[in-house]
Amino acid sequence: MSATFSVSIIGGGYVGLVTGACFAYLGNKVTIIEVDEQKASSINMGIPPIYEQGLEKILKDTVGNRLTATTSYESVSTSDIVFICVGTPPNNDGSSNLQYIRSAAISIGTSLMNHPGYPVVTVKSTVPPGTCEKIVIPEVLGNSLKTANCVGFCMNPEFLREGRAIEDFLHPDRIVIGSSDKRAETILRTLYTSLNGNVICTSLTAAEMIKYTANAFLATKISFSNEIGNICKKLGVDVYEVMKGVGLDHRIGPHFLNAGAGFGGSCFPKDVSALISLAKEVGEDPILLRSVIEVNEQQPLKMVNLVKKKLGSVKGKKIAILGLAFKDNTDDIRDSRSIPVINALIQDGADVHAYDPMASEHMKTIIPSISYAESVSAALQDADCCLVMTEWPQFSHLSDEFSLMKQPAVILEGRRMLNRDDVEGICW
Ligand code: UGA
Repeated sequence: MSATFSVSIIGGGYVGLVTGACFAYLGNKVTIIEVDEQKASSINMGIPPIYEQGLEKILKDTVGNRLTATTSYESVSTSDIVFICVGTPPNNDGSSNLQYIRSAAISIGTSLMNHPGYPVVTVKSTVPPGTCEKIVIPEVLGNSLKTANCVGFCMNPEFLREGRAIEDFLHPDRIVIGSSDKRAETILRTLYTSLNGNVICTSLTAAEMIKYTANAFLATKISFSNEIGNICKKLGVDVYEVMKGVGLDHRIGPHFLNAGAGFGGSCFPKDVSALISLAKEVGEDPILLRSVIEVNEQQPLKMVNLVKKKLGSVKGKKIAILGLAFKDNTDDIRDSRSIPVINALIQDGADVHAYDPMASEHMKTIIPSISYAESVSAALQDADCCLVMTEWPQFSHLSDEFSLMKQPAVILEGRRMLNRDDVEGICW
């Protein structure tokens, strides 16, 4: 049995909740500190405030014994390890807003004043390089009135995909531990002993940069594939065949080469923009990263142009949108590629009917003016055109449903899902 720790997690959002639930599942005593009272009480009832595969089961098994959520910082004063898992939303210029990081560090510092041992304050939020050194360490030490040898600091970025976050947490490719000193590093290493995966130990700043670089590289792979896809479409070549042949080179790898309408979500667009802003701050022009974003912004417009090429004017035409979530297995619509597509279609007077297995309620809050169908069939009934926007596995089994559309049916894909001869893709 590996050592167990008393862990406090600041922030009960997707990263904090998954991290807290998984550390409790591994036997640690975890307190999640969440300012939103409703969220905290939902966690305490074992009801996940977000959808994440496998999370409900872990909450049911751990809440009330090893996992608690609260609005109070009290547990910090006796915790072995304190994780900062608060949001770092984008400012208008794309840079990261670090106000929640600073206020968490101040509150942790105040709570650590009478801590009897050597607590390790660990940042899990995605933060620009230098944040631990310039904000977290000074605020924690300044407010706790402790010296640097009494508190350890680590940067331990997360590599959790939404929808598969529990699986990613429990089976990591690697665990990155940036630390202020060996003692802090050893404590964090011990916390992770029961998980397999390479442990990489670095400086605090390198660990901060690893996270941005990993996301920027994955986003680059996608925009690269999309650009190749756009060229392939003009040449009449199947980009999926091309990328299969390319990805089998072990130096390249087969993942994140799926061309389509681009990447969305709360991470890639935000993190690439933050890295661009960081590069500019230090006097570098990030030519490649700027292009990654530019390609990503063009892809949804290409989808709309394809619809217009097929239908002529979209005014008054019924367009079915299948898929609103930014990817499958989540109800998250942040930066979903469906949003710019729907907005452009509304602008041109189309009659949009959307269906998503999980994300319709969220989309209604930002685009209330379209129709939301209860089923694929209802969305497709008498539609002039259908756009498949999210790679939900159930869409790949659709077949007879398309006969409900006006014939001959115009079916377009933003992600390769349907194996039908009568379907045209954004880049294929
Ligand atoms: C991403 C990273 O994959 C995680 O490692 C990271 O921890 C996380 O961001 C984060 O920083 O918190 P996530 O945003 O949940 O995870 O989603 P991904 O599965 O990476 O997909 C992102 C977007 O890229 C989706 O819109 C997806 O449809 C798109 N995508 C993905 C493609 O267009 N093509 C691909 O080949 C793969």
